[in-house]
Amino acid sequence: MPEADVNDAKQFHEDVPQRSQVFFLKGSAAYDWGMQNRLARIFRPESGRTVMLAIDHGYFQGPTTGLERIDLNILPLVPYADALMLTRGVLRSVVPPTIQQGFVLRASGGPSILKELSNEQIALDVDDAVRLGAAAMAVQVFVGGEFETQSIHNMTRLVDEGYRRGIPVLGVTAVGMELVRDARYLGLATRICAELGAQVVKTYLCDEGFERVVAGCPVPIVMAGGKKLPEVDALIMARRAIDAGASGVDMGRNIFQSPAPVAMLQAVRRVVHDGVSPTEAYDLYRALASEFSHQPATV
Ligand code: R5P
Repeated sequence: MPEADVNDAKQFHEDVPQRSQVFFLKGSAAYDWGMQNRLARIFRPESGRTVMLAIDHGYFQGPTTGLERIDLNILPLVPYADALMLTRGVLRSVVPPTIQQGFVLRASGGPSILKELSNEQIALDVDDAVRLGAAAMAVQVFVGGEFETQSIHNMTRLVDEGYRRGIPVLGVTAVGMELVRDARYLGLATRICAELGAQVVKTYLCDEGFERVVAGCPVPIVMAGGKKLPEVDALIMARRAIDAGASGVDMGRNIFQSPAPVAMLQAVRRVVHDGVSPTEAYDLYRALASEFSHQPATV
């Protein structure tokens, strides 16, 4: 047993009030410590933003182009992302537990690309998300879809479970072929996700009015990537989303289907975190793409 500590020279700095830190993320000030800590594993406190790499496509469409071998094609990209979005199957089977990035676990699923996609159910027990150390759980919400209510119920169940364990939920606004991606629809879908408890919402950029979508959503919005575009167009898209107030991007195919994914990821980072223009970022992409093409592949 150590002796009593009776030193009179202790320093309490009585004249320095203890400061209360304001949590940096939109709408997130009232969450418990664990939930805020998890959000800070996704969003960088310095910029308040994230560059998330989405590689969860296999959960409904199998071996997507670019994701055939996640061990070979995706692991080299991981150090350049702030966070990953993936399934627990890929996490356990392929991703080393030494990664420093936060990760968002796919938590809904069921139908394959061959069936009605909105007919999802909860596909992850929150205890497994805790066991794996997830920073958040992702659930698809099909506003206007055939199984709209069921998908929203999936989200609200996960939000309840998440609050019990301190794990936030990323509501993903899924847009079916028949739905128009305009500000009115995206504003509706994102607001519903936030009102019903999602701590972060992922949605697509729209041609006009995305600022209103972001302003009308009380929690952070991350921009979904969508189908592969020319690199410069994907960088323009990211710039527009950030300028409209998005708290980051969650991009998949526009990164891993690029001929130079590491270069593309770094160019996106410059747009999201450093405020560079799409032209400047594209110049960086081309310079890095040429540099990487002269290096032997490493895994
Ligand atoms: C989106 O809703 C799914 O989670 C996808 O699997 C993925 O996140 C989409 O990424 P991207 O459209 O950028 O390829």
